[in-house]
Amino acid sequence: MNKISLLLITGILLICCRKKTIQNMKEKSRGFIAENAMVVSAREEASKIGLDIMKQGGNAFDAMIATDLALLVSYPVAGNIGGGGFMVFRMADGTSGALDYREMAPILATKNMYLDQEGKVMSEKSKTGALAIGVPGTIAGLFEIHNKFGTISIEKLIQPAINLANAGIVITLAQANRLNQHKASFRNVNQRQILYDKQWRAGDIIKNPSLAKTLERIKTEGRDGFYKGKTADFIVNKVQNLGGIITKEDLENYNVKWRDPIIFNYNGHKIISMPPPSSGGICLAQILKTIEPYNIGQYKHNSKKYIQLMVEAERRSYADRSYFLGDPDFVDISKDSLTSIKYLSKRMKSFNWDKATKSSDLSRGSFLGHESDETTHYSIVDCEGNSVSVTTTLNGAYGSKVFVDKGGFFLNNEMDDFSVKPGTPNMFGLIGAEANSIAAKKRMLSSMTPTIIETNGQLKMVLGSPGGSTIITTVLQNILNVLDYNMTMEESVSKPRFHHQWLPDNIKFETSFDTTVFSSLKKLGYKVDNSDFLVIGKTDAILVLPDGRLEGGADPRGDDKAEGF
Ligand code: GLY
Repeated sequence: MNKISLLLITGILLICCRKKTIQNMKEKSRGFIAENAMVVSAREEASKIGLDIMKQGGNAFDAMIATDLALLVSYPVAGNIGGGGFMVFRMADGTSGALDYREMAPILATKNMYLDQEGKVMSEKSKTGALAIGVPGTIAGLFEIHNKFGTISIEKLIQPAINLANAGIVITLAQANRLNQHKASFRNVNQRQILYDKQWRAGDIIKNPSLAKTLERIKTEGRDGFYKGKTADFIVNKVQNLGGIITKEDLENYNVKWRDPIIFNYNGHKIISMPPPSSGGICLAQILKTIEPYNIGQYKHNSKKYIQLMVEAERRSYADRSYFLGDPDFVDISKDSLTSIKYLSKRMKSFNWDKATKSSDLSRGSFLGHESDETTHYSIVDCEGNSVSVTTTLNGAYGSKVFVDKGGFFLNNEMDDFSVKPGTPNMFGLIGAEANSIAAKKRMLSSMTPTIIETNGQLKMVLGSPGGSTIITTVLQNILNVLDYNMTMEESVSKPRFHHQWLPDNIKFETSFDTTVFSSLKKLGYKVDNSDFLVIGKTDAILVLPDGRLEGGADPRGDDKAEGF
């Protein structure tokens, strides 16, 4: 080999090595990468179980069922069969849809059921204990999905959760702390010791044989294994003994609804999200379409102008949310008008870069509902490129705290997502929140925002979050992080977040947020709230990279985990 050839080869090698080094450097800020399929969820066990189903040849929907039930066992704070949820899907061919398996108000529920004789709200009743429970929808949802899209037998999809419940889960420090924090309320509500009512330490193992038996019944009897027979008896007896109103008729009559997703364009990307009874899709569309003409990417991320623009769009959208949105089977919702450019630009006429808009100067009903933040989200992409985005909830941590001992599971407190006292005029005399008033068999308004994004006809991102009313703004910030600020999925989910929801009229910042911007915001009249130790959302997301590989974003705020192959 002559000198020139040697130099040439060395040069080429150096260039290749350099390229590789740059790639490796870039890869460093990325989350977990997989070639074919991925699950990102709140628990490692659940992500692994979902992934294993796809390794066996199952699709994203099969994996969803297995992941969901694994979360029920391993993440009882929000994983559930005693609650409900929403699923948005996108098939590899681009078709999409949404399933609503939100809880429903019991047949005996009434508009004023949480008011005392003087008409005052008995707020605890909608939050804790048997009266707070909506009719659960999760099992009906999972069976509906299996009937439509499943390719692996339901027995095979349920078995891993049964095995996990029998073998027991090893709890993390965060789980031990959270369980210990709720010990007293478990005892108060259930009036006896329940499985979870102990002093826990990280590393302890919790076995749940009663739950394994419930899952066995569901495995052999199908959805009737939950809504009829023994499990239904256990639920109704427990709830009625504690003063609740759910009957066998409620359980037998529970039904799911296929809904048309909210689909809109943002800067050339197609966003597919959850329609009512979630407010998520509509509010996301309102906020993104409001800020689109301002080209937010020109402002530094999390800078004064960035925050201002977002807050003003959020303020206006949440004001609308509280007045217009509810269960579409009970109220007419003008989706197109609420998300039209004409309407949204009119709403922004009062926006001024030099001064904060006051929420009290914006019309629309008062925000009566309280939403808790204990929900869970997971994202899945399969080998074919099908994707599901699922957010499921008991509402508060461990829901109503009512634990069906013989069934081994908690029941939700989703009734608190209704407006418990609609018709109360706000400070402008407007009658607000009627759209979300309580009625028998109605579904309560939600903020859950399972979302999928498509770019140039290809799957781009699957994401969602828990966080009550902050779900929408969490999803929003992650969308902007990736689409406008070119962040990796891992960077995006890790970034500090903020939130404004019209009322209360303040911007909530996560404790980790850089405080240097606060003084300039305050000068413009914004109220800043970073007083409590605050975590906003917990995003579990998947990004499809230009070369087709998948990047997981498992939010470091929790024990969340991406698994893939
Ligand atoms: N319970 C939280 C939500 O549905 O938004």
